[in-house]
Amino acid sequence: MGFIDSHTGLLGLLGDPVSHSKSPVMMNAALAELKAPYAYLAFRVSPSALEEAVRGLRALDVKGWNVTIPHKVAIMEHLDGLDETAREIGAVNTVVKREGKWIGYNTDGAGYLRSLQEQVSFEPAEQRVVLLGAGGAARAVGYALAAAGVSSITVANRTVAKAEELAQHLSRYTQTKAVAVNDCRQEIEAATLIVNTTSVGMVPRMEEMPIPGEWLNAHHLVSDLVYHPRMTALLRAAKAKGATIHTGEGMLLHQAALALELWLGKKAPVEVMRKVLEASLA
Ligand code: ATR
Repeated sequence: MGFIDSHTGLLGLLGDPVSHSKSPVMMNAALAELKAPYAYLAFRVSPSALEEAVRGLRALDVKGWNVTIPHKVAIMEHLDGLDETAREIGAVNTVVKREGKWIGYNTDGAGYLRSLQEQVSFEPAEQRVVLLGAGGAARAVGYALAAAGVSSITVANRTVAKAEELAQHLSRYTQTKAVAVNDCRQEIEAATLIVNTTSVGMVPRMEEMPIPGEWLNAHHLVSDLVYHPRMTALLRAAKAKGATIHTGEGMLLHQAALALELWLGKKAPVEVMRKVLEASLA
């Protein structure tokens, strides 16, 4: 961000909590690298204060803002429009002003795909995917994979009704199925890509796994959205079986880079952002 003067514009993040967010360090390092005259701040906003916060940001005519838990769905009714991807995912993580209107975007799914391509040279064709979980993260990743052209997606969730709902939604793009996560061994064994979108394995319950390690094999690509720790119990078990693994911090990096690109209309300095993200996760 350089030094702040009367020309400095505001970018930021609305969430609750936000104190552990990696976005401010990544974004401010990127803005400094680009010599872009903006500062990025994290604002803790409770659900009851969301509407007022958005009114304030609009009145201040900020450059744009990110949205995180718990506001990714609730923000939608306070905006002037939605980009098609945000509408399909049913959630917004980035707000951008376009022709005087505040439009909601979602860069989570595209950020996930970019990270998969970068870390493991992912090609969607012929992929049989099992998504573990059916919440907001699963919706973003599922949509991105489905729209990219994977051959099938099985949604495996603790609550089967939620898996059915997501599978039904994604069935417009690819072949889908819904199963109970504790009864999906067959689908796991037949899969090429397994993605954990649940919080199982996250600090402090680091030893927990969404599925048993014995279900994995050397042909699998196993991807975990959990990035704290980066090597989750699931990824350790996958590695022990000889599977290829994909770690969660990549999605965090690339969703931020894509948000910055939407605001500034120029390429994000991904390596600078990666360096500060890695330092802040170490
Ligand atoms: P996010 O936005 O991070 O995806 P979410 O929308 O609350 O968060 O979704 C959390 C997902 O993780 C859900 O699929 C949830 O399963 P349920 O639909 O059955 O609640 C799953 N999840 C969370 N904790 C879990 C646990 N301990 N075991 C299995 N699944 C879990």
